[in-house]
Amino acid sequence: PETGCLSIIVLGASGDLAKKKTFPALWNLYRQGFLQSNEVHIFGYARTKISDDELRDRIRGYLVDGHGASTDDLPQFLQLIKYVNGGYDSDEGFRLLDKAISEHEFSKNSQEGTSRRLFYLALPPSVYPSVCKMIRKFCMNKSDLGGWTRIVVEKPFGKDLDTSEELSIQLGSLFDEKQLYRIDHYLGKELVQNLLVLRFANRFFLPLWNRDNIDNIQIVFREDFGTEGRGGYFDEYGIIRDIIQNHLLQVLCLVAMEKPVSLRPEHIRDEKVKVLQSVLPISYEEVVIGQYEGYKDDPTVSDKSNTPTFATVILRIHNERWEGVPFILKAGKALNSRKAEIRVQFKDVPGDIFRFCSGVKQGRNEFVIRLQPSEAMYMKLTVKKPGLEMATIQSEMDLSYRQRYQGVTIPEAYERLILDTIRGDQQHFVRRDELKVAWEIFTPLLHKIDDGELKPLPYKPGSRGPAEADKLLEKAGYVQTHGYIWIPPTL
Ligand code: BG6
Repeated sequence: PETGCLSIIVLGASGDLAKKKTFPALWNLYRQGFLQSNEVHIFGYARTKISDDELRDRIRGYLVDGHGASTDDLPQFLQLIKYVNGGYDSDEGFRLLDKAISEHEFSKNSQEGTSRRLFYLALPPSVYPSVCKMIRKFCMNKSDLGGWTRIVVEKPFGKDLDTSEELSIQLGSLFDEKQLYRIDHYLGKELVQNLLVLRFANRFFLPLWNRDNIDNIQIVFREDFGTEGRGGYFDEYGIIRDIIQNHLLQVLCLVAMEKPVSLRPEHIRDEKVKVLQSVLPISYEEVVIGQYEGYKDDPTVSDKSNTPTFATVILRIHNERWEGVPFILKAGKALNSRKAEIRVQFKDVPGDIFRFCSGVKQGRNEFVIRLQPSEAMYMKLTVKKPGLEMATIQSEMDLSYRQRYQGVTIPEAYERLILDTIRGDQQHFVRRDELKVAWEIFTPLLHKIDDGELKPLPYKPGSRGPAEADKLLEKAGYVQTHGYIWIPPTL
């Protein structure tokens, strides 16, 4: 690994994302030894006029002891953080920032020979272009020292194909694709990263993973709370832009893509783009959108809002492996539970000889990958009901992480992705062409909703969402197994 001076600059340091995700991730990396005190310096940059200590006080409360490890190092970690204040289009501010970074790059205490600069934009995308211009102008790594400059950005990357392309062009004129890290934090989740291993390192799955055996695939995201406190942001975007077009579509890519030539980031991303290019235009008959009752009570949400807080969208992939298999993407806020999972439902067994055995036809085989909470993979299958009778029953083969990997801490998505950025590994980041196709898929539907031509159906907070969504699932071929619930094992 590279050594030498590493500067991590968090722009938007006093904002929500920085406090809740970025700084805690840096803290976790620090205490696991991935950030060395003699190499790393962290800078917060924002408009608010505060001192170094005031910034430290603001974030201290978020650097909690999440992994059960000691917090003895916290004061040392906080001492690594400096604050620079300035506007997002201010020459003056970015000059000062560059000065602060350079000071320690040239200081005697730093190891010589590198100027590694990681800029983390914890900011609204509206200021990305101006901030990037300023970085380009004043804050690039010092070429006589070597090193690199990398920029981490986070969605929303635009609101539709045109606005996203505009942003890509602006950023692309300032930085090479190799320098841009577009975060989709779902790609940093343990079980999302496991998909590649699961699919391509197991003989079990190879012959089954196709239209001959799989009936339908669901990728589901549910939250049991509404848009509390974020109504203003959310109302402009809605659930499709907030969750489906990025997080769930990224998961779909990994579930559906062909085997990459190798594990090289470009090989993997090439396959993701290919599968996205095979997605057919969305048919409006295969879409249900909803809005929970009470959503518009939020004072930051317009009374006339047509924004969906729930959506089920079926995607169809036109290729040899997947033709005819619906990929059901479903996401909703204010539902009855919080979880994210991939549910692969297999076809019925042909010529079933057990159909009369228990008086009921048993449910289908399902392979479920539970992304969160309680990370697990389980396979629902039919077995003989233990006992003297020849009866069948639904059971499962269960790999629950908490039980199987006791004492292992599953890293936070942001931790992993920041570490990848430091290491220069773009595998788990979204490439520009990938982003473009993702917008191509959803833009017509989004425009239809924005224009009010498609209206969200009301649903009760704490429910499953609009009943029409379940009907759509059924129509698409999904068969619910009644009377079976998987319960995560307790230790
Ligand atoms: C964010 C969305 O990207 O992901 C939020 O903007 C959502 O609306 C969050 O709550 C969910 O992330 P996680 O990791 O809690 O599933």
